[in-house]
Amino acid sequence: MTLRRATIAAITVLLVYLAGLAVVAWATEQEPVDSSRVPLPDITEPQGESCAEDTDFIRRNHMSLLKHKRDETVHEGIRTKQFSLKGCINCHVVTGPDKLPVSAASPDHFCRSCHDYAAVKIDCFQCHSSTPEPGVLPADHQADNALPGSLGAHGIECK
Ligand code: HEC
Ligand code: HEC
Ligand code: HEC
Repeated sequence: MTLRRATIAAITVLLVYLAGLAVVAWATEQEPVDSSRVPLPDITEPQGESCAEDTDFIRRNHMSLLKHKRDETVHEGIRTKQFSLKGCINCHVVTGPDKLPVSAASPDHFCRSCHDYAAVKIDCFQCHSSTPEPGVLPADHQADNALPGSLGAHGIECK
């Protein structure tokens, strides 16, 4: 009798265990493929084929590239397209629900998508436009504040 009870108990335990496994397997199947417990920044796909530099390199070194570029331009008057902030903004456009490019005021802005995550604050957009120049996107995708030049938005974004 006790033996029989023990067997029933053992089978019950086994069934509960198998049911548990099935639930776990099912739940795992429902998860998105790259579900990771570590929250990652949601970086928007940029325009164009490739970045101004190798992706891994730009990810690590864009700060120094930009600052170097700025010093070259501001102090030495060298204005080339390579590593220009304007260039970054033209390619890395993020559009909002209204299909217009979002400015750095939005947490969805390309630069902020990562900086917010990394707790980095930059003051560049107090002077520089954070939205692309006219002509980069079709007319109906153009924000009102995208005036010519990288400093075009100065008056508007600083208000
Ligand atoms: C011609 C268009 C273009 C220009 C100009 C450009 N980028 Fe990119 N950028 C891209 C593309 C495309 C990728 C994605 C490459 C990939 O996925 O391998 C990228 C990737 C990146 C990444 C890595 C994002 C990630 O997913 O980790 C950073 C950071 C970045 N760019 C910053 C910049 C900065 C800063 C500038 C200006 C100095 C700039 N980019 C200029 C097109 C551009
Ligand atoms: C107080 C206003 C101001 C701030 C803040 C500012 N800049 Fe500039 N920046 C300028 C001016 C003015 C120029 C010169 C534009 C020209 O002569 O073409 C310039 C030029 C540049 C250039 C070369 C032109 C271009 O479009 O690539 C780069 C790169 C640049 N700045 C990067 C930065 C970065 C990165 C930051 C933030 C860390 C920043 N700037 C913050 C005013 C500012
Ligand atoms: C893939 C993530 C990522 C993206 C996208 C990104 N950044 Fe950064 N950025 C960082 C990190 C991380 C740091 C801090 C690095 C450090 O402290 O050494 C940083 C630092 C900077 C700095 C230096 C800030 C300081 O206090 O010295 C500047 C300037 C800068 N980023 C500009 C930009 C601009 C402009 C864009 C958009 C065109 C951009 N970044 C997009 C990750 C990113």
